[in-house]
Amino acid sequence: MSATRRLFGAAIAGAFGLLAAGTASAQGSLTVYCSVQEEWCRPMMAAFERATGISVAMTRRSSGETLTQIRAEAQNPRGDVWWGGTGDPHMQAAQENLTQEYRSPMLAQLQPWAVRQAEQTGFRTVGIYAGALGYSYNAPELQRRRITAPRCWADLAKPEFRGEVQVADPNTSGTAYTMLATLVQIMGEDPAFTYLRALHRNVNQYTRSGAAPARAAATGETLVGITFLHDAVAQKVSGAPLELVGPCEGTGYEIGSMSIVRGARNMDNARRFYDWALSAEAQAIGAEAKAYQLPSNRSAPIPPQAPRFENVPLIDYDFARWGNAQERTRLIDRWQREVRAGAR
Ligand code: F6P
Repeated sequence: MSATRRLFGAAIAGAFGLLAAGTASAQGSLTVYCSVQEEWCRPMMAAFERATGISVAMTRRSSGETLTQIRAEAQNPRGDVWWGGTGDPHMQAAQENLTQEYRSPMLAQLQPWAVRQAEQTGFRTVGIYAGALGYSYNAPELQRRRITAPRCWADLAKPEFRGEVQVADPNTSGTAYTMLATLVQIMGEDPAFTYLRALHRNVNQYTRSGAAPARAAATGETLVGITFLHDAVAQKVSGAPLELVGPCEGTGYEIGSMSIVRGARNMDNARRFYDWALSAEAQAIGAEAKAYQLPSNRSAPIPPQAPRFENVPLIDYDFARWGNAQERTRLIDRWQREVRAGAR
């Protein structure tokens, strides 16, 4: 090829590059598995696309379902980043070598609990938000049925709540696994399973997604929904007549997490997303999307509606133990055998 043709070719390529830089595909792409609510996943991905020109393909699934998917794809990874969802399955993924170590320069900006999540997993995951577990009830419905307002976990197993409680399935939902591990930590394992069998009689449905029971309580489809409290707040700010309860025996919490899939096809873009998602600016998108978790970046604004940890009787949740792969699998199997399979 002559020098002139080469130059000409380079000029064309340069001009094309400039043009294409304005489009998303010029910067490549990224596949994100999102385990928060769809209402937050979508604006988050759109903001990242605007900020970087990287085009994002996003799939939303609950935390346990995403872990199952990443495990199934381990030999041929299709996802790049797993953003959101409870911390325990992210920790299990780290232990199963399904995710990739990454020490983001943004770690220095994070709350200590978010950094601890990273340190405990050899930097294969990191905390992006936190939120306390609890339940909410539909106040006018409760009054109409003349039921005394529940305050404790124990109240939900009482006969007056027969068929009135909704909670997710820990096979798919990180919220439901957090409840399972919380009760075991509060009551001890055997008493917790005795309680869960009693609660089972009162459960009208085990949902796939953790936040669904708050939506059902909001419409009166169920009287009580067990969820993270921020998911009940999201309904309340939209006008739902919900009352929130931080159960009197104490309650657990989540450290919502983010991980990079091992063998990610778009590793550079995955790291770019990871750094960006830890910024105060990106974390501020949550409140705009009615996601009322506590953000992990110390400079991110805390939504005024977010349930504050000071106001909830929190236990010292042992993430290392209950995010351990064997323990998590064992507890869910036991729940499946001894609780789910039982008659109601
Ligand atoms: O987005 C709401 C939320 O409750 C998160 O705080 C949490 O990490 C996630 O959903 C858990 O969802 P699931 O229980 O469906 O796995």
